[in-house]
Amino acid sequence: MQALKPIPPHIVNLADHEAAAREALDDNAWAYFAGGAADELTLRANVSAWQGLQLLPRVLQPLQAGHSQVQLLGRTLAHPVLLAPVAYQRMAHPDGELATALAAAAQGAGLVLSTQASTPLEDVAHAYHRMASDPASDSPGPLWFQLYLQPRRDTTLQLLARAEAAGFEAIVLTVDAPVHGARDRERRAGFRLPPGIRAVNLPATDSCSTTPPGDASTIGGLLQHSPTWADVRWLVQTTRLPVLLKGILHPDDARQALDVGVAGVIVSNHGGRTLDTCLPTAHALPAVAQAVGAHMAVLADGGIRRGTDVFKALDMGAHAVLVGKPYVYGLAHAGAVGVAHVIRLLRDEFDIALALCGCASPADIRPAHLVSEKQYPPTSNAIHSHLKYSNQPSACTPLNPHHRAPSAAQLSQ
Ligand code: FNR
Ligand code: LAC
Repeated sequence: MQALKPIPPHIVNLADHEAAAREALDDNAWAYFAGGAADELTLRANVSAWQGLQLLPRVLQPLQAGHSQVQLLGRTLAHPVLLAPVAYQRMAHPDGELATALAAAAQGAGLVLSTQASTPLEDVAHAYHRMASDPASDSPGPLWFQLYLQPRRDTTLQLLARAEAAGFEAIVLTVDAPVHGARDRERRAGFRLPPGIRAVNLPATDSCSTTPPGDASTIGGLLQHSPTWADVRWLVQTTRLPVLLKGILHPDDARQALDVGVAGVIVSNHGGRTLDTCLPTAHALPAVAQAVGAHMAVLADGGIRRGTDVFKALDMGAHAVLVGKPYVYGLAHAGAVGVAHVIRLLRDEFDIALALCGCASPADIRPAHLVSEKQYPPTSNAIHSHLKYSNQPSACTPLNPHHRAPSAAQLSQ
């Protein structure tokens, strides 16, 4: 691990981390990590859709026994923020996925490791579990493995067997990227993976399940391997781990997922990196949560940049959220400490949002806390009538609106 340096005091939010990452990364890596598909309309709309929802706080509520715990697939998590799968993290920082794993475990954040990780999955699991068992770490979040179905069944089976043996607790099958999006920004930058960076968990010949980054072609042999519902059924029957589908926007797809025995869905448009102009996730989430939220885990990602966005997602029926680009920005300029700081900022902002909305815990979040833009005063029609999720935390810890960044010693083990 590289020497850890403290976060400069002027970095106080996720946008500040993004600016610092821009300084740290070259144009090639920046095009990959920051870019989206085509005109990047969905990339931007993901962020503005959360911003366009307005909070309607309640005051004078009892907040004494407050906490930010949520329940997810039978576990109590310290808070509802997980790290989304992001490929090739050693291109952002030499410590790559190992730094991310240490920071996530120290901060009690769940972690989803990409099929296209640039670090062996066993090493990441080892780092995560070791840090999670440190008494100074928060109660650990779940460690999940993101799967791109591979062209060859035996490659997929080997990946599943390795993930199960390494202690990953669920398989997240990504279903919204049968091909690489039309990445104008990557093509303009002439994007190429730097020497020494590759998807090390895949055989060299299979190292991209979607069209490789920098390759603009979208129609070709790879389409023959795009997953179908029959593959999802196969996966559910094959692995002993719960399966989640990542990249669901339509409530009918969520219902079908429930029918085939999937344990959860992630409302996601791949951070605006696949189909441009598709629905921002903040707008897709309510219908999906309403359709299946009482029966399976519902998570959401895309454009979450503030604790208030986390609050809004839970208000609309998500049980938890994921962030992608923000933590990679933290990683890019400050390694493990940067990732930990990003998670801590989101946690603290979420705690503050809870308290200022009059909620002692996520279980107190009500549809009445959220009003669509230009829909005030809150008549029964104007208030979002989203299905209330049923997080019932089993233990209480005090709200802590103050920073508790992990120590450098904790992260450098
Ligand atoms: C991703 N994402 C992604 N998803 C996935 O299932 N497998 C992967 O390997 C990757 N790789 C990847 C690389 C980069 C650079 C980014 C930015 C994203 C999508 C990711 O998991 C998530 O859905 C989005 O990043 C969420 O949006 P935000 O938080 O980045 O706005
Ligand atoms: C991406 C692929 C790896 O978004 O999911 O770049």
